[in-house]
Order: sequence, then structure tokens, then C-alpha cells
Amino acid sequence: MYTIRKVELNDDLQKVSKMIAAEHRTMLGKTIEQVMREVGKRLSFGAFLHKKEMIGYISFHLWEQNVIEVGGLVVDPPFRGKGIAKKLIARITCLTRKEFPDCKIFILSKNPAALQAFRKNGYKECSHEELLRFLEPVDPWEECRKKRCPCWENGGYRGCKMTAMIIPSS
Ligand SMILES: CC(C)(COP(=O)(O)OP(=O)(O)OC[C@H]1O[C@@H](n2cnc3c(N)ncnc32)[C@H](O)[C@@H]1OP(=O)(O)O)[C@@H](O)C(=O)NCCC(=O)NCCS
Repeated sequence: MYTIRKVELNDDLQKVSKMIAAEHRTMLGKTIEQVMREVGKRLSFGAFLHKKEMIGYISFHLWEQNVIEVGGLVVDPPFRGKGIAKKLIARITCLTRKEFPDCKIFILSKNPAALQAFRKNGYKECSHEELLRFLEPVDPWEECRKKRCPCWENGGYRGCKMTAMIIPSS
């Protein structure tokens, strides 16, 4: 049986880095220091087998101007297809809505299973233009521009292959 809870600094954070590194085709890597920073700020949840073994991870980034990006979602391959991603998303979304009630929440992903798991938690697809309007003045592609990410070389956010999803304001 697995449990979902906040990740603590004494959990196996190397495993988080390893799970993310194994997905380098679809995810940006995270150093152990980056993972420690987000765990230290209480910005992440994990799924744990027998309360200890980390088998899934999710975190969020608090942008300026009341904007939250949920991301870093990964589940250890042997445990996929059991609803763990959906539960991690449910927990982090519930926490962000409670602690930051005025925040605008969004994701960018190109993984079909991740998109489906977010859909099941009330996230709705939107175009990149709609996302920019929803988040204004925050521009989620700012980092891509700074780092000359391939999406930026292909015509700015229009070249981005990620699907955008938001929690529509009620
Ligand atoms: C994406 C990921 C986290 C999903 O984890 P998971 O625990 O297996 O997901 P869940 O079991 O909660 O299922 C998610 C949903 O996706 C569906 N799904 C699975 N594979 C799918 C696919 N190839 N295409 C579309 N939907 C798919 C499942 O059926 C389920 O939907 P349902 O409730 O309608 O049946 C996992 O595959 C992973 O770690 N992938 C690599 C990392 C990655 O790309 N992360 C996304 C970064 S945003």
C-alpha cells in the first residue's frame, strides 16, 4: 500500500533526482540541490510505499503575481497505471487552492498520461495564447527565452510542443 504525504528533507531525495533524470526526453532534470530547495520550502508531495520508499513525486513553483505552476510529476515505472499520479495531483491542487486561494494554477506538459491525470482533476486544456492572457503579466516562456530552449528557437511559444492546462476561475 502507498501513502501520499509532504516530502521531508530526510526522505530519499536522490531517488527523486534519479526518477526525473530517467525521463530526460520529456522532463527537465533537477539536481539534488533543486529538489532539496523545493522540499525545504514544503512545495512537494510524494507517494511512498510502506510509508518510506519513494515511488512518486510532484511539486509546484510559486511565480510572482499569484501564479502557480504544478510540475515535476513523476511515478516510478513499476508503479504506473495505478492512479498514483491522479492522487498526487489531487493532493497538491487541494493544498495550493487552500493556501493560495487567489492563485492562478497552470501546467505545461506533453505526456498524454499526465495530461489525462490533470484532466481528471479538473484542469482544462487551453491554447498558448489563452494561457498568456490568463496569467498576465506572467510569461511562462520567459525561462525558455533566457535559456534559448528549442521551443524558443522555433518561433517563441508558438513553437512549444507542450499542452497548456489551467484550473478555470470559478
Ligand atoms: C505521467 C505519469 C506521472 C503518470 O503516472 P501514473 O501513476 O501511471 O498515472 P495514473 O495511473 O494516475 O493514470 C493517469 C491517467 O492516464 C491514462 N493513461 C495512461 N497512459 C496513457 C497514454 N499513453 N495516453 C493517454 N492516457 C494514458 C490512465 O488510463 C489514467 O487515466 P484514466 O483515469 O482516465 O484511466 C507517469 O507515466 C510518468 O512518470 N511519466 C514520466 C514522467 C513524465 O513525463 N511526467 C510528466 C511531466 S508533466
